[in-house]
Amino acid sequence: MTTTNERGNADARRNPPTTPTTPTASAASSVLGTATHGVPARAADKFRELRGRPPTGVWSAPGRVNLIGEHTDYNDGFVLPFALPYRIAVAASPRTDGMLAVTTVGDDGRPQHAGPTLIAGLSPGSVEGWSAYPSGVAWVLRSEGFDGGADLVVAGDVPAGAGLSSSHALQCATALALLGLAGVELDEPDAPSRATVARWVQRSENDYVGVPTGLLDQTASLSCVRDHVLFLDVRSGEMEQVPFDASSAGLAVLVVDTRAKHSHSDSGYRERRAGCERAASLLGVPALRDVTESGLDDALGGLPEDLRPLVRHVVTENARVERTVEHLRTGGIADIGGLLTASHASMRDDYRISCLELDVAVDAALDAGALGARMTGGGFGGSAIALVAADAVESVGRRVLAAFAERGLTAPGLFTAAPSPGAGRDS
Ligand code: GLA
Repeated sequence: MTTTNERGNADARRNPPTTPTTPTASAASSVLGTATHGVPARAADKFRELRGRPPTGVWSAPGRVNLIGEHTDYNDGFVLPFALPYRIAVAASPRTDGMLAVTTVGDDGRPQHAGPTLIAGLSPGSVEGWSAYPSGVAWVLRSEGFDGGADLVVAGDVPAGAGLSSSHALQCATALALLGLAGVELDEPDAPSRATVARWVQRSENDYVGVPTGLLDQTASLSCVRDHVLFLDVRSGEMEQVPFDASSAGLAVLVVDTRAKHSHSDSGYRERRAGCERAASLLGVPALRDVTESGLDDALGGLPEDLRPLVRHVVTENARVERTVEHLRTGGIADIGGLLTASHASMRDDYRISCLELDVAVDAALDAGALGARMTGGGFGGSAIALVAADAVESVGRRVLAAFAERGLTAPGLFTAAPSPGAGRDS
């Protein structure tokens, strides 16, 4: 499949150009951006405009933040994400020729077209750039028996390249659209479970796009629900929806999109993952999940020096997730701040996946009175989150902006986010 206006670099591959509206400090009195409304309607309108007929349906999926539990998913551990109020929507109609055609609207407002290409002819590496994401999903679904062709038009407002899983939102929305066109709607009798679809999406990312990510992002996009964080045990697949109503506690989660994009994030991710797998194998356990906090010192003693910080991060991070969940189960949102900040320190000092912008965001938020703050997502750039008193959101935001300005860094994007609905059919 060829794509027009394809940038053909790692950044383009990671950042599908589906995000015309990154939140910015637009309102005169506020430093915060807000979600645009009606992303699914926009996708439907665009479909009508481009194809001259209405779509058969529209499906959408959200981006996510991970409250805590980073780089634990591929170690069979625990994660605790919630879905953002920012989504990617796919308006779709079936095609009878077995082809996939995808149009998305880039940052410049112009449509970018990929395909049509024969789904039966797709293979890993055959498509590059942003359209590898929808193509990979079509490739996986074909292997699961869903091989119908489709016309897709994509619209969205998940900030791109911000570590907020815009690519996973695109993949999940595409999966739902292609399944929907095949007459399969999630949660209906005989439909594959959301967890199964998450694994299919992961397979498309691992085997088709070629990035060895875990299950965090797809599961978050598909299985999160409003007003809750999702406690996922990646090994067992067990999920618990844990209430997370920050505003009732007088709090808010401030998201700081640092706008820092580090070119070595792919290789950094691969190296960390390989290091964890090597450590598990040296310790004779299936995954680092099997190392307990009480057994940590012994485990570290048996490992080469370069692997010790990786193991320390994963083991302590799993424990922090469990403690966070314990607080949340009893309504103690205000008590999790220290765990968030400790998680950031562990990623900065042990896992070594933070960067200047993330550290500046976290430190400035804490200096301004945040209860806790940490980077979220894969690292090497992307976003940080801070738990702040609701009436301090603006002042914390301003301090973060000032800290970036003092260091001559590009101004970050700021917004607050409450747990929002997961993926589904819109119309
Ligand atoms: C990225 C990956 C996830 C997870 C996080 C780190 O977002 O896609 O699978 O590993 O990094 O927690």
